Amino acid sequence: MRAAFASSFDADNPLAALTVGEQPEPTHPEDDWVTVQVRASSINHHDLWSLRGVGLGADRLPMILGCDAVGTAPDGTDVVVFPLVVDPGDPRGMSILSEHFPGTFAERVAVPRMNLLPLPAGLSATDAACLPTAWLTAWRMLTTKGRVDEADAVLVQGAGGGVATAAVALAVALGKRVYATSRDAGKRQRIAELGATALEPGARLPERVDVVIETVGEATFDHSLKSAAPMARIVVSGATAGHEPKVNLRRVFAMQLEILGTSMGTPGELTELLTFCAEHEVRPVVDSVVPFSRIEEAFARLHSGEAFGKIVIDHTA
Ligand SMILES: NC(=O)c1ccc[n+]([C@@H]2O[C@H](COP(=O)([O-])OP(=O)(O)OC[C@H]3O[C@@H](n4cnc5c(N)ncnc54)[C@H](OP(=O)(O)O)[C@@H]3O)[C@@H](O)[C@H]2O)c1
Repeated sequence: MRAAFASSFDADNPLAALTVGEQPEPTHPEDDWVTVQVRASSINHHDLWSLRGVGLGADRLPMILGCDAVGTAPDGTDVVVFPLVVDPGDPRGMSILSEHFPGTFAERVAVPRMNLLPLPAGLSATDAACLPTAWLTAWRMLTTKGRVDEADAVLVQGAGGGVATAAVALAVALGKRVYATSRDAGKRQRIAELGATALEPGARLPERVDVVIETVGEATFDHSLKSAAPMARIVVSGATAGHEPKVNLRRVFAMQLEILGTSMGTPGELTELLTFCAEHEVRPVVDSVVPFSRIEEAFARLHSGEAFGKIVIDHTA
């Protein structure tokens, strides 16, 4: 079957490590696994990290990339694939598709039957394909970790990214005052259209916020600390610009800040998110929909940093 996979690693130019070509059909490590015919997927920064060799060992090459998928189950129903798989070989006890088990950038993907969630009525395959990784991460950052129900104001850093646009759209839909920073004037314009107050990185906010959504890291973390109200939650799920920021501990204890790490979410949280989007007519921010035959262009666009929102892959084209 056709697939997009990491054939090597390249820390400087991850696009050079990507190959599109034939890979073997999925196999089932356990009896309760099923094969899903993929209709749509979406690309995440995780896929670029894999091509750089971060989180993926050379002994696992070639590895089909892709964490997100919407497709057709063996019984003909439309399903959203929950991307985390129980994995006794991983220290976390689980791994995301494309780390140990082949990912979703293929015609078909094998997953445990329990990872299949029904596609809600009213959500298209391309929209739902944005939700299982980036949007799920943002949902858990805001709700379970950030306790956004107790918050009035939220700051989202690096707001053009997949997780960050999700956080902006969801926080606005939840009725919060949302501030969002981006380096790019065009992205700031689009953030404002989503209902947030758009700011340049490092700009002073008109008020301190109760929840900060951090996926950027070194470039923004000091601003996140300075923008946090007493007792605020700074929720971290990524560090695109570096993972060793200087942290002013005096501010952390004096303001009683909580710095919370998080990764992905649970099947229950993904079900909540699917229901929330379907019922509140919240739709993912989609940068572009690219046919699978041009998937290299999707990787190049994500790598360029120019994307605003999610880049979706249409596997039927
Ligand atoms: N832990 C998890 O479960 C999980 C899940 C999903 C993602 N992640 C991580 O979260 C991060 C974001 O993922 P994503 O898929 O949303 O990536 P993405 O779509 O590529 O977005 C990254 C964003 O970071 C901002 N950024 C990058 N370099 C920056 C810099 N030097 N200064 C300021 N901002 C910078 C950019 O925002 P602007 O261009 O708007 O400034 C960019 O849009 C990645 O590191 C990813 O690995 C983690």
